[in-house]
Amino acid sequence: MTYARILATGSALPERVVTNADLEKLVDTSDEWIRSRTGIRERRVAADGETTGDLAYRAALQALQDAGVKASELDMVVLGTTTPDIIFPATACLIQDRLGANGCMAFDVNAACSGFMYALGVANNFVRTGQVKKALVMGAETLTRMVDWSERETCVLFGDGAGAVVLEASDEPGILATCLHADGGYKDLLYNPVGVSVGFSDEKNHGVRIRMSGREVFKIAVKTLDALVDETLQAANMHADQLDWLIPHQANLRIIEATAKRLGMSMEQVIVTVDKHANTSSGSVPLALDAAVRSGRIKRGQNLLLEAFGGGFTWASAMVRY
Ligand code: UT7
Repeated sequence: MTYARILATGSALPERVVTNADLEKLVDTSDEWIRSRTGIRERRVAADGETTGDLAYRAALQALQDAGVKASELDMVVLGTTTPDIIFPATACLIQDRLGANGCMAFDVNAACSGFMYALGVANNFVRTGQVKKALVMGAETLTRMVDWSERETCVLFGDGAGAVVLEASDEPGILATCLHADGGYKDLLYNPVGVSVGFSDEKNHGVRIRMSGREVFKIAVKTLDALVDETLQAANMHADQLDWLIPHQANLRIIEATAKRLGMSMEQVIVTVDKHANTSSGSVPLALDAAVRSGRIKRGQNLLLEAFGGGFTWASAMVRY
């Protein structure tokens, strides 16, 4: 049996920190409200001219270096993102060229906040079927580019960042299962209506900005993630007590706590970065994974459950033997 093993991880964040106190000066909000409702204390915001591709490139370089893999060895470059640098070519192609991995397949996956999990699921299947030996899988966003800084319901929630993993085909267990789902019936609860085919401008609705029915998204996310973690355990033929770490999508600490409770896991076994990064969409899971690997919390041989939920709705997971 061939598995996709994670050889190494990487991440990148913009330099600029925006705290809750900074946002108190922009909108009618408070540090207390943001912390108690979301767990967020601060977020990073990309500099002018700093792109999703720039962040993903930095994360990729770190992951490749730690993996000891040359860019020219890659068979696949895939990026989960909903904020690509430009409409086309895919940001994965721009990164591929900067890395010098020219010639291998390279594409973006847009599954909103589940983008990295979708990219990982796709890459896993290419590796398992023998078509890919080494893959670079990234999740990266500059979501703050489409945040309306005068809208308190959304502007406090998001941040920018990127994470990456290098996968290699191996006989040793690596990714044990992936589960990918979507239900477009929920498209109106979390979306950005501005686009190419429907037209670039949306003056009536004040341009490019995220629309979210927060309370509804919250409720459905909790319910859906409950079912997803059960499904993932079943797919990997495992029980919750075999899990070492939960690495959840970092949208809201209360959603994370609900999933941990469902799994009977203490918060000591959960990687939380939402306090520092806020919701970085596709960047969130690989950023959290890299933070935990670098701090030495995640060790080789441990079982990790990764999951995400986002616009679409999309939801996806992976059980990983690290
Ligand atoms: O990553 C993709 C998936 N996204 C998510 O998972 C997000 C899911 N949703 C959430 O995380 C939460 O619903 C939010 C954090 C967005 C909101 O928390 P909530 O506990 O659901 O609050 P709410 O929307 O029910 O709003 C409660 C009150 C409202 O005032 P009233 O109607 O009770 O007077 C809001 O107007 O809080 C008010 N409010 C704020 N107050 C201060 C909303 N935003 C803010 C704010 N500061 N930033």
